[in-house]
Amino acid sequence: MKACARRGKLRGMMQAFRAALLWFDPHVPGPSVRYEPDGLLVTGPGDGPDAPRRVVDVGPWATLAPRYAAVPLTHWPQRLIAPGFVDMHIHYPQTDVIGSPADGLLPWLERYTFPHEARFHEPAYAASVAEVFLDELLRHGVTTALTFATSHPASVDALMTAASQRGLKLIAGKVLQDRHSPDGVRDETQRSLLDTEALIQRWHGRGRLGYAITPRFAPSCSDAQMRGAAELAARYPDVWIQSHVAENVDEVRWAAQLYPGARSYLAVYGDFGLLRERAVYAHCIHIDDADRALMRETGAAAAVSPTSNLFLGSGFFDYASAERIGFRYGLASDVGGGTSFCPFHTMLAAYCVGRAGVTGGGLPKQGVSLPPSHLWWQHTAGAAEAMGLAGVVGNLAPGCEADFVVLNPQAKPLLARKWAQADSLEEALFALIVLGDDRVVERVCLAAEAQPRL
Ligand code: GUN
Ligand code: FE
Repeated sequence: MKACARRGKLRGMMQAFRAALLWFDPHVPGPSVRYEPDGLLVTGPGDGPDAPRRVVDVGPWATLAPRYAAVPLTHWPQRLIAPGFVDMHIHYPQTDVIGSPADGLLPWLERYTFPHEARFHEPAYAASVAEVFLDELLRHGVTTALTFATSHPASVDALMTAASQRGLKLIAGKVLQDRHSPDGVRDETQRSLLDTEALIQRWHGRGRLGYAITPRFAPSCSDAQMRGAAELAARYPDVWIQSHVAENVDEVRWAAQLYPGARSYLAVYGDFGLLRERAVYAHCIHIDDADRALMRETGAAAAVSPTSNLFLGSGFFDYASAERIGFRYGLASDVGGGTSFCPFHTMLAAYCVGRAGVTGGGLPKQGVSLPPSHLWWQHTAGAAEAMGLAGVVGNLAPGCEADFVVLNPQAKPLLARKWAQADSLEEALFALIVLGDDRVVERVCLAAEAQPRL
């Protein structure tokens, strides 16, 4: 993977890129895909010296080329430019937890995840994993991510420092977990809230970075910690919230025991005031229609994490019901419960989960066939919209921050064959989703000035 050079004299100038182009119509709600087999993407400086670069124009080469004849042009024949991917839920400290088998979520947390996360009290260790994590995101074409850190504030500092040097759009938060957690990761209620506020003030809105208030999940947070998190969320409305909900049946049972008065596990978060726009809840598998309506009414979003759900045996996200009720959702890797940083692998797993369908009330429901362009949207513009970042990232419409990937469908022999045989855009995208991996991601161009590698 190469990074695009935008240092030096090109920094303040417009640039043009000619290749096949994929983006989404910003004026049509939902996954309205746009494609130009021979397109032109024009980018330019943002407002202010440190502002991210923006998309100036996008469309057919033949129409736009005369208008931008004076702009420096890069031509990538036989390549596809697409928006940088958006990962709605990932854990940077679990980079090395990938591939740890367990009998479900709760044993996995106890056996692998908590002991590993305990190591992040050590700033040098956190900084070294942050580098590997950000390398992996970029190698796979992920340019925006919403990630958990650990309960140690230094783990946030390490990640934010590394991300600001590279220019990714990264939103992260210190995990809150003051109960039902072992020594080494358990935090202390008052201290955890003071630390959270200090981290918001240090990092939120600095360059491309954002902060997310991060209660791990209701079973690991005392009432006082949940109340404190909600107070902060009300005081800082443009800060994100991230948590987990209804991933695993044992977890759901446990939440019901801890909150016998709540209508549902999701309602626990609602009762504390933790459901709102910019609140992202991973999984949302074992929920009902009243929960789905609660998601819709509050503007909260689900981070659908199919490789994690398959690996841990958690269950299947119910796409048909999500579409019927209509709430925000998008795709996520959930590394290290998830098995891959690769957006192609996540989209393929989402397709398979959709096909498998779900069992409701003992009756198997028909599976859905999610079109490839819809899967792609869920991992780019749709994910951005679900996170309150529509028109900012995840798309290449004019005005968006210019994060994009250059994909090479020739990178693998079988993919090259399938790509050449595709009769439609949907078939071509399906080839990439089923056969693509990091070898296909030839370049990653970030809207920020700082570039990791030239
Ligand atoms: N629930 C609480 N913590 C975690 C975590 O780290 N990963 C997943 N997948 N679920 C969780
Ligand atoms: Fe997770």
